[in-house]
Amino acid sequence: MKILVATQKPFAKAAVDGIRKIAADNGHSLALLEKYTDNSELLAAVADADALIVRSDKVTAEVVAAAKKLKIVVRAGAGFDNLDLAACTAAGVVAMNTPGQNANAVAELALGLMIFMNRNQFTPGTGAELQGKTLGIQAYGNVGRLVGQKAMALGMKVLAFDPYLPAEKIEATGAKVAPSLEALYENSDFVSLHIPATPETKGSIGRRLVGLMPKGGCLINTARKEVINEDELFALMAGREDLRYVADVAPDRAAEFAEAYGKRYFGTPKKMGAETAEANVNAGLAAATQICKFFATGDRTFQLNR
Ligand code: 3PG
Repeated sequence: MKILVATQKPFAKAAVDGIRKIAADNGHSLALLEKYTDNSELLAAVADADALIVRSDKVTAEVVAAAKKLKIVVRAGAGFDNLDLAACTAAGVVAMNTPGQNANAVAELALGLMIFMNRNQFTPGTGAELQGKTLGIQAYGNVGRLVGQKAMALGMKVLAFDPYLPAEKIEATGAKVAPSLEALYENSDFVSLHIPATPETKGSIGRRLVGLMPKGGCLINTARKEVINEDELFALMAGREDLRYVADVAPDRAAEFAEAYGKRYFGTPKKMGAETAEANVNAGLAAATQICKFFATGDRTFQLNR
């Protein structure tokens, strides 16, 4: 079988080498399309692929239609808002992700961004410590839990809100359960977002919630830019001169945020939460292994479009 790795944002070399070895050991061939700039390159590359590994690359209905031999696509990572699951299902293509494999990298970055913001973005001036402050975590999945664990190690109090998890599971980690989403925002010096981008969450973080944060509150977004209502947040930060926003997924209006809010805003130039060699290796090799297992035994663990 031919496995295509199509990544606009390439994996570290160690990950590509590892994927190649897994493919070869299982009798499959590997094709690589990296740093492509035009969707036509992806459409051409998928034409004869039996399996596809992507990162945030968009696997649209057009891509699925062009991939006449495709049997499985694996998003090497957690969020799968880049996959058109309905198109995959209609074409009989199995879609999977690799949950948890890059979670530690994203969690470390969330912590790093908090320190960066509390230390004047590493410019002269008096900063503040994280110890003793409260971190609210919205969605306590693989990334959220790791952020909580690391924050507790730094002496932070951790509050979590996750309607899909029983309270005991959250409390077992040492975090406290926020009784409502509003309570999470009201009682947290920092709120870190770990929600996926879905029709329900898109545009859901705006004036109503962020406006509840206490003085000096800081919103951390290493999730998806689409979950933010940018216009509302922009207007809110104009009226609340204490609020801060830091994003690993810079808003569309990034230049305006930077211009208007200076040290109260920071966005990484590129989405880089999962940009570590370890995360690339973990997620990339997991994707390759899942594909090989699927071809060998029909294993569908981690299938998203059941
Ligand atoms: C994910 O959903 O796994 C992360 O956002 C990482 O995305 P990336 O592979 O594009 O860096």
